Amino acid sequence: MRDIAANGLQTARARTLTLTEFDDHELTTQHSPLMSPLVWDLAHIGQQEDLWLLRGGESAAQGLLSCQVERLYDAFENPRATRATLPLLSPAEARTYLADVRNRILDGLDRLPDPSGEDLFPYVMVEQHEQMHNETMLATHQLRDGTPILGAGAPLPTGRTVPDGSVLVPAGEFVLGVDGTEEPWSLDNERPAHVVDLAAFRIARVPVTNAEYQRFVDAGGYDEPRWWSARGWAHRQEAGLTAPQFWLGDGSRRRFGSVEALVPDEPVQHVCFFEAEAYAAWAGARLPSEQEWEKACVWDPELGRRRRWPWGAADPTPALANLGGGSLRPAPVGAYPDGASAYGVEQLIGDVWEWTSSGFEAWPGFTPMLYRQYSAPFFGGDFRVLRGGSWAVGGNTIRPSFRNWDLPIRRQIFTGFRLAWDA
Ligand code: AVJ
Ligand code: FE
Repeated sequence: MRDIAANGLQTARARTLTLTEFDDHELTTQHSPLMSPLVWDLAHIGQQEDLWLLRGGESAAQGLLSCQVERLYDAFENPRATRATLPLLSPAEARTYLADVRNRILDGLDRLPDPSGEDLFPYVMVEQHEQMHNETMLATHQLRDGTPILGAGAPLPTGRTVPDGSVLVPAGEFVLGVDGTEEPWSLDNERPAHVVDLAAFRIARVPVTNAEYQRFVDAGGYDEPRWWSARGWAHRQEAGLTAPQFWLGDGSRRRFGSVEALVPDEPVQHVCFFEAEAYAAWAGARLPSEQEWEKACVWDPELGRRRRWPWGAADPTPALANLGGGSLRPAPVGAYPDGASAYGVEQLIGDVWEWTSSGFEAWPGFTPMLYRQYSAPFFGGDFRVLRGGSWAVGGNTIRPSFRNWDLPIRRQIFTGFRLAWDA
């Protein structure tokens, strides 16, 4: 158990350093008003580790930074668009700070006598926080102008033609969410486990692809208000949306500084919730709710219990799911037949975050974790839940119960979607 925490922190840190091993100009530039300069994410990773692990969340206690400097890394106080104007730590200072905090943490971890899952939770929570910012930094990399600096990305399995577009999930009860006893690293909003009854529905075996989405674009889907919600249409008009973000209009798209032909059987990425909703309406379908998504992902109807992963108990491997950020892209649909859920649904974990129709709400019996402001301030806001994780999520930062959320207009994150239907 102790190794899970130490290795998780180490994996996250290696990735953080790879994503920030660039010159100072690259790190201090505001690449987009939607994103922080990379050097802010870098020092914020250390500041959160300092707060949760060196001080047990006691923000009034003295950390390794002065309190004036520490405040610069408070995400609630400083909107992303303003962060490049702050007197931030330089990249070199930030790297030294991260290393100082980490060395103290690892010493403390070594000295914990026979730690339980509960003792280790704060460490894995901090690892997950670092991994989330790594994904955020990848979104910043995707938005930056200029020549490629991330390399080509690791190879992925090839796709295959997936038989029968959708599966039926019969009506009935299942267990939604998890408890700390089964999933010690689950975050507060995933808990507690509770029984939910759902009507029968159908859900697509794989996410919507570029080729399928191109047909919606070609059919004039962006010019037909009837496919869009009222809010979605207003946003489409105001933002001038005509295709997914980074599509160049000639069958190509920009990815991490390179222009490439769109891969037809790759899941579509960089669509907002409103675009996903419009596509679904055009296709005679709808988005799944997050409850439907989770049932299709983990429920084993024969045994009447949850699986740990869609495919069973084994931890993810490169043959089961595209995770960890190394590929820099989603895998083509059909690439993971062995990753199918009990109902036969594929690519639920990894590849692209999937928009659901659900707003972000607390499960009944919600209790905030050590990082009390992680979830609670966002419940009931204008957010939609995203499920399953993208190719960019790493370490212990994804589970079938994991819930991500964002505003319905956002599309710089690695999001796609799959279709569902009433049965
Ligand atoms: C869970 C991805 C919505 O980035 O806003 C990072 C994660 N929270 N630091 C976000 C998070 C605090 C969060 N999301
Ligand atoms: Fe953060």
